[in-house]
Formats: sequence, C-alpha cells, structure tokens
Amino acid sequence: MQKLLMDVDTGIDDALAIAYAASIPHMELVGITTTYGMAPVDYSYRNTRKILEYAGVDVPVFRGAEKPLQRTREYSGRIHGTDGLGNTLGPVTEVASTQHAADYLIEQVYKHEAALTIVATGPLTNLAMAIRKAPEIAGLVGSVVIMGGAVMTPGNVTKFAEANIIIDPEAASLVFGSSLPITMVGLDVTRKTLLTARDVERWREGRNHLGKSLAPCTQFYLDAYKELHPYLQGCALHDPLAVGVAAYPDLVQTVPMFIKVDLEEDALGRTTEDIHREGSGQPTTKVCVQVDADTFMQDFFQRIG
Ligand code: RIB
Ligand code: CA
Repeated sequence: MQKLLMDVDTGIDDALAIAYAASIPHMELVGITTTYGMAPVDYSYRNTRKILEYAGVDVPVFRGAEKPLQRTREYSGRIHGTDGLGNTLGPVTEVASTQHAADYLIEQVYKHEAALTIVATGPLTNLAMAIRKAPEIAGLVGSVVIMGGAVMTPGNVTKFAEANIIIDPEAASLVFGSSLPITMVGLDVTRKTLLTARDVERWREGRNHLGKSLAPCTQFYLDAYKELHPYLQGCALHDPLAVGVAAYPDLVQTVPMFIKVDLEEDALGRTTEDIHREGSGQPTTKVCVQVDADTFMQDFFQRIG
C-alpha cells in the first residue's frame, strides 16, 4: 500500500488536506510533520492533532522548524487567523517535545523507500533540513508532492511569489535544486479548485461530524478570500489538491522541468523553469499545468461529509 507522510503548517487548507488524506483508503497516512508557516510551529502541531481528533484517526505528529533557514517570519493571521485555524482554537497552552520532524522524515524514507510519498503543504524548511542532513534520501523516496509556487500565473504574496516558497526561499531553492522526484502543485492548478459558501453551509447544516467540525474555520478562510481575492468566488483548496494529486496522479497534466527559485530581492520566491541547470540529465520536477477540478472536488466532498 502507498504510504503517505504529510509535512504541514496547519493552516485551514492544511486542515482540510489532513482530513481528506485520512479518508483515502488506498493510502496509509503514516505520520505528520509540522512546521511554522501560517502560525508558529506549536500552533501547527496542536492544530494538526486537533484535526486528527476530528477525523477520528490516530497518527503520530512531529514538531519541526521554528523559522526559515536564514530569515525571520512574522505572522499576520489574515487568511488563517492568529491560531492558524480561523481563531477557532485560540492560544496554545502546551508545548510539544518530540523527535524533530526532519529526523522523522529521514527515518521514514529509509523505512518505506519507494513506497513513500511525502506531501508538503507549508514552507519547505523541514524538507530542506532533512536533505541537508541526509542528501541520499532524494534517491530513495518514491515521490514528493509540493503545494507551492506558480509558473504560469502570478503569485499570491507578491506578483511573482507564492506563500510557501517566499516564506523560506532558501529552503525551497535547496529542495527544488536537489534530485528529489517532485510534483509541483502550484497556484497554476490550485486556483482552479474552489470551495464556495454553499459548500460550507452544507457542512454546517449537515449531519456529518467531520464536516461540522471543519465548517467554522473554513468559513473564516472563505471570508478572508472574499476580501482579498474577490474575483475567485470561493477559497482555493491548495493543500487538499496536493493530497488529491498524490492519491490520483491522473487528476493533473504535468510538464517536466527543472525549477529555479529566485533569491534576488526583486523577484524573491519566483518559481520559473531553470533553463541553465548544468550537467543535469532529465528534469526532476513535474509541474502541474492542468487539473480535472470537477473530479477532484467530487472526491473531496464525498470523503468529507
Ligand atoms: O499559498 C497557499 C499555501 O500557503 C497553502 O499551503 C496555505 O496553507 C499556505 O500555507
Ligand atoms: Ca499550508
């Protein structure tokens, strides 16, 4: 059976992605590593455990990076709330002490090798730390599906950059510069999978426990999208789509490419084709350029309420 490890910064759409992943029968969710991102790492850790509780599954969770490799991180709380889950859970009271996420990632790659798919839906700091410590894992792991970047469309933080990449561009550069077998699920496709007000209403009014639990934070996310990205008419299911692509690769059409992450300040975090990579052989990243949004949305809603 395909083994799945998620690396998350939970985050409202990460929460939806975790709930979705836990419900897909042909994948075994072996563990979840957490990072700072939308909120500090202790929030991501606590939020992840809460979502697993809502979903009724018992999966080990690990605490990872507290900040980007070289930069600082400030939190606005605008899209995900100050607690990462739309201010539905409030402050963290207990701080976790676990094996570091990067060490757990390395351990799991050695344990499952090609059977393991890693789905990363936050800044890529944990993955970069793992690659730095054990570069050989790049040749062992089955695949790495990354929600991040934008090749054909504008960014969502700057006109060039997507959030997960620009928060830790050095980590993203290291990860995309490695030989990891990556599928990049960027804004090019995630902006085409939209959850609407009607969908949240159905969860809120329905009888499914998981849907009911997820409705309040999803409403916050939807409201934030309405304010910031009114042209979209819904909120983007970025992270759930990464899980969908891991489970059903035929959902997307991809183009093989080497990806370069810009580190120059004028285009920080931009992800473009790396046409100058030297001594390179076959491209290691498959960039998703088209998605069968209807099939994905159907499966997502069938599994969550
Ligand atoms: O740009 C979208 C990404 O940023 C998603 O992973 C969201 O959860 C945030 O981390
Ligand atoms: Ca995320």
